Amino acid sequence: MNIITIDGPSGAGKSTITRLVAARLGLRYLDTGAMYRAATLHCMKAGIRLDDPKAVAGAIKTLKLDVELVPDGPVKVRIGGQDVTDKIRTPEVTRNIHHVADVMEVRDWLVKMQREIGQQGDLVTEGRDQGTLVFPHADLKVYLFASPEVRARRRFNELKQRGMETSFDEVLKDVSHRDHLDMSREHGGLRKALDAVELDTSNLTPDEVAEAIVKLAKSRLSAKTRKIDKSKLGLDKPKA
Ligand code: DC
Repeated sequence: MNIITIDGPSGAGKSTITRLVAARLGLRYLDTGAMYRAATLHCMKAGIRLDDPKAVAGAIKTLKLDVELVPDGPVKVRIGGQDVTDKIRTPEVTRNIHHVADVMEVRDWLVKMQREIGQQGDLVTEGRDQGTLVFPHADLKVYLFASPEVRARRRFNELKQRGMETSFDEVLKDVSHRDHLDMSREHGGLRKALDAVELDTSNLTPDEVAEAIVKLAKSRLSAKTRKIDKSKLGLDKPKA
């Protein structure tokens, strides 16, 4: 199985870039953030106290989550058969995610689901812990980053385009707060895997970053194929 992991902080361009890479390599694309978002929405609807880890762990047992990988498109997420792909993107869900993503039972369950998806075929997967914890033996690991200011500027422009009123300072504060939550998470927190390739996306277009990853992937995956071919030739057999 070929697995490519793309991790990094929010606003580093992971979703756009991962989708481009998956489309160019003809691989499936998984957005694991969408799974944590769906778990959060489910807990919010259950009406439990989100700051009570035991209540969150209990609520997660009743979550019927279905993740459909869509070629070239965002991952489709359903809860109990109902499409919640758009509903998981509200600011309320984003604000509450950390309560749910910090709970061990939630992480264990979603990590298991992510590994099962990985076992079903080649995959490009993005998140915070994909290269470090979920797929430690991935064929290629990428860590995307950009300065908080650059990431906040991107987010600010995006919000302005959607007609939302906010200030740059407010967005920058929010980006720094999310970094802190993601990096201080004890299990599955945002860290660069030792063997990950680091890419600074600050001064590159998504297209340029995707192209760089595609090149890396092609050389890694063909090296792997060469290794397999060599063993098929029987070169490793002891001489008679
Ligand atoms: O990628 P995103 O911004 O949609 O992710 C939302 C949140 O989900 C992120 O702030 C932390 C959490 N998350 C996580 O804990 N582990 C992952 N593999 C992916 C996301």
